Amino acid sequence: MTRHLLDSSDLTPAEIGFLLDTGLEFKSRPQKLLEGRHLALLFEKPSLRTRVSFQVGMHHLGGETLYLAPEEVGLGDREAIKDVARVLARYVDVVAVRTFGQSIIEEYARFSDAPVVNALTDDQHPCQALADLLTLKERFGELSGRSLAFIGDGNNVCSSLIVTAASLGMHVRLASPDRYRPAEAVLEETEARADEQGGSFLLTADPEEAAAGADALYTDTWVSMGQEREAEQRRIDFVGYRLDQELVDRTAPDALIMHDLPAHRGEEITDAAMESPNSIIFDQAANRVWAQVAVVAFLLELVEVPSS
Ligand code: CP
Ligand code: NVA
Repeated sequence: MTRHLLDSSDLTPAEIGFLLDTGLEFKSRPQKLLEGRHLALLFEKPSLRTRVSFQVGMHHLGGETLYLAPEEVGLGDREAIKDVARVLARYVDVVAVRTFGQSIIEEYARFSDAPVVNALTDDQHPCQALADLLTLKERFGELSGRSLAFIGDGNNVCSSLIVTAASLGMHVRLASPDRYRPAEAVLEETEARADEQGGSFLLTADPEEAAAGADALYTDTWVSMGQEREAEQRRIDFVGYRLDQELVDRTAPDALIMHDLPAHRGEEITDAAMESPNSIIFDQAANRVWAQVAVVAFLLELVEVPSS
């Protein structure tokens, strides 16, 4: 049975912990584990980090990549999704897909004999969350008991982040306006995993309540790719949700500042917060390389979670 990573909750807490350790191990000692393996990047939205970090990461571990840009394949348009999936699986070992609805990547994966990695959908961004937690682990060592506050849109990045952080026993706090909360299933999964792992989950509409005493403060754009027509309304609805000095003043001393990028300086985050010595934003981007090669090696069964 081919294993895919389509949603952050596809991974058990033990697998998430293992992927962070594996990513850190690859970072300290890159090895040619992916020699002779090919990864296709099938992208229907633009990308800087995800594309380049997959390409560089595969190269570090001896593998190769090919990039298929939004205008090239026409997933479900020029050709049926199931046909593209079956063809690509005959050429490459792994496929990273960036697309719109979650149902598109789910349909793609149903027909793919090659493992499929979600490289961002409207609902999920699991590779980003793994890189983010890997970056926090580099800073904090043990993550359980640490608190992470996300302020803003309950979007793809937020949905993956809260489930992944809760899986590691963190205290997760989310401040979103009511109509911009993540899907109910994501909230329930976060709550359940936090309970099981000794963490907690606070959901509020008040950014200051979420930020109070937090060890790390995270935000993302108010207008995700594909939502451009809602931009004006969103900029009104998210007033008060900016990651700024006032919010930083509520956190634990020297709390880390996080953003997945691209950022809109002056909108969801201030310029000063981005440039703060406590910002780990560019480390998050750098660590995409290592989290993702860990995922590829795991899905290809080249590394295995040790039995406890
Ligand atoms: N953070 C992130 O996924 O960036 P890109 O959209 O540039 O890949
Ligand atoms: N939420 C953003 C993340 C970009 C990496 C988007 O989907 O556009």
